[in-house]
Amino acid sequence: MSKVTITDTVRYIGCDDHNIDLFENQYEVPNGISYNSYVIIDEKIAIMDTVDSRVTEEWLSNLETELSGRKPDYLVVHHMEPDHSSNLKRICEKYPEITVVGNAKTFGMIPQFFDSDLSVNRLEVKEGDTLDLGNHKLTFIMAPMVHWPEVMISYERMEKILFSADAFGKFGALDVEEDWICEARRYYMNIVGKYGVSVQGVLKKAVALDIQMICPLHGPVLKENLSYYIEKYDIWSSYRAEAEGVTIAYASMHGNTADAAKKMGEILEKKGQKVSLFDLSRCDVAEAVESAFQYDKLVLASPTYDGALFPAMEDFLYHLKIKGYQKRTIGLIENGSWAPISGKLMRAYAEGYKSCTVIETVVTIKSAMKKENLEVMETLAEALINA
Ligand code: FEO
Repeated sequence: MSKVTITDTVRYIGCDDHNIDLFENQYEVPNGISYNSYVIIDEKIAIMDTVDSRVTEEWLSNLETELSGRKPDYLVVHHMEPDHSSNLKRICEKYPEITVVGNAKTFGMIPQFFDSDLSVNRLEVKEGDTLDLGNHKLTFIMAPMVHWPEVMISYERMEKILFSADAFGKFGALDVEEDWICEARRYYMNIVGKYGVSVQGVLKKAVALDIQMICPLHGPVLKENLSYYIEKYDIWSSYRAEAEGVTIAYASMHGNTADAAKKMGEILEKKGQKVSLFDLSRCDVAEAVESAFQYDKLVLASPTYDGALFPAMEDFLYHLKIKGYQKRTIGLIENGSWAPISGKLMRAYAEGYKSCTVIETVVTIKSAMKKENLEVMETLAEALINA
């Protein structure tokens, strides 16, 4: 078991997963992921979420250790996504007296994921309801669309712990030492990013609470400097740029568009801009999405391909669209050897993003970058900076 310590009576029983190659079958997790689960030991015992079926046996063993022969009274289900709820059936079979705690939407989803409603005792809670465990008292706060509609979080008032579901989570197993910010940002932008309005709603409720500790469903338990994490969530969920700078995302078949993208990067750096370059054919697209949200400016560079966009660029722009990308300034570099239309096609995407400014000047490369392109790049760079 990971050596996560919370308090004497709130125990960590989650598991690290280093064997998974793609989380949600799409996100690279070079340092794995943790599926967090907790158990509150009191007059009544509450398990706070289960874990992914990939780590069931280890989790059950962790749970049994902490139970020390007692039986759990409640299973609180904050989120029905299978990385947290896969073991609902297993735990209800193992402890048939247990009461599952969820909201109306939770209980609507259970028979969708399982063969039946599990025929368990259930306690349906709504906003503000409290579950009394003895010394510990959990208050439930509905958090719809932080990440799914049935999500709720809970606040334990004696130890001042917020059980925050996916919020404040990150990629990366707990036995890996790494900064929170980078993998938390990649996780947020790609998984929760679309639901900024919902996150803002929950943050407003959370700031009214005296929180000493945040226990998310992934990543480390947060115990210090909580205002730092809350401020980051406030920036991210309101779609403000976290920093001034330019993400340059390019697709290139034979290296010519890549040359132009890199030259654009040099020009911007000379003008004092922080630049992050991404080769969309090779990079983790989730990193490129993260960067696009992190900085206030974005340059897209793509060849025309079969009268359309190069597929890697189309995929990136689609990712931004479904993640609710907005409030940024965007510049375009197009390439085409006989009929360049990638600029027009990228503009159509970019103008579809909410409240984005798309710079009128477009750098048009005909096969390979030429001297005259450099002047237009200068113009584009100035327009981006001054937009
Ligand atoms: Fe970690 Fe939305 O599940």
